[in-house]
Amino acid sequence: MNQAGQIPRHVAIIMDGNGRWAKARGKPRAFGHQQGLEALRRTVDAANELGIEHLTVFSFSTENWSRPADEIDALFGLLRLYVHRDLKRLHKAGVKIRIFGSRERLKDDLIALITECEEVTANNTAFNLNIAFNYGGRAELVDAVRSIAAAAESGKLSIDQIDENLIRNNLWSSELPDADILLRTSGEQRISNFLLWNIAYSELIFLDVLWPDFDRRDLEQAIDTFRARDRRYGGLASS
Ligand code: IPE
Ligand code: IPE
Ligand code: MG
Repeated sequence: MNQAGQIPRHVAIIMDGNGRWAKARGKPRAFGHQQGLEALRRTVDAANELGIEHLTVFSFSTENWSRPADEIDALFGLLRLYVHRDLKRLHKAGVKIRIFGSRERLKDDLIALITECEEVTANNTAFNLNIAFNYGGRAELVDAVRSIAAAAESGKLSIDQIDENLIRNNLWSSELPDADILLRTSGEQRISNFLLWNIAYSELIFLDVLWPDFDRRDLEQAIDTFRARDRRYGGLASS
C-alpha cells in the first residue's frame, strides 16, 4: 500500500509520440525527436526536484532499428548531443547516469561516450538517470539466460542456485529497483518490450499527451494518480 504523501522511488517512462507531434505541425519527425529531448531535460530536473530517486527512460528500442536510416541517425545524434551538452551540468548536480541495453550494432565511439558518461558519474548519489538505449526486454532476458547457462555449464553455478535474485543480477538493468510507475505518453497502451522483468508490479499510467509536450505538471499528476492506487502485491485490500 502507498502511504499518504509517498513519492514513487522509481519512475519509468516510455517517451512516445515525437513523430505524431511533429506531423501535426507539418515538420519532419527528427524535429519531434529534438523537442522530445527538451522534454527529457525538463523531466529529469522535475523528477529530481520532486524527490524521485530513479528515472528510467526508453530512448531507443531494439525494434527501432526497423525505422529509416535517417531517423535512426537523428536519434543517435540526439544521444550524443545530450551527453555533450548536459553531462557536465548533470554531474555537477550529482546525477548518476546509466545507459543500458545491447552494445551490438553500436559504433565504438558511441560506446566510448556511454562509458565516459557512466564512469564520470559513477559515484554520484543525488539522483539516478537510467537511459534504455538499444534496449529490448526480451533481448535482455536472452542475454541473462545465456550468462547463467554459461556459468552452469562451466560448473561455477549449480541449477538450484538459480533464483529471482540471480536472474535480476544478470540483467542489463540489474542496478535498477523495481519501477513503481510505468508511464507511457502518446495514448498507446502497450509495453513495447520495455523492462519486462522489472515492471512485474509497476502501476501502469497511460497519458494522451505527446512526449514533446510532457511537462512537470504531467509528472506531478502521474504521481498523484500513483498515490491514489492501492498496491496489493497479491494480498488483500488495505481498507
Ligand atoms: C518516440 O516517438 C521516440 C522513439 C520511439 C525513438 P516516436 O518516434 O515513436 O513517435 P510516434 O509514436 O511515431 O508518434
Ligand atoms: C517504444 O516506442 C520505444 C521508445 C519509446 C524508445 P515505439 O513507438 O517504438 O513503440 P510501438 O512501435 O508504438 O510499439
Ligand atoms: Mg511511437
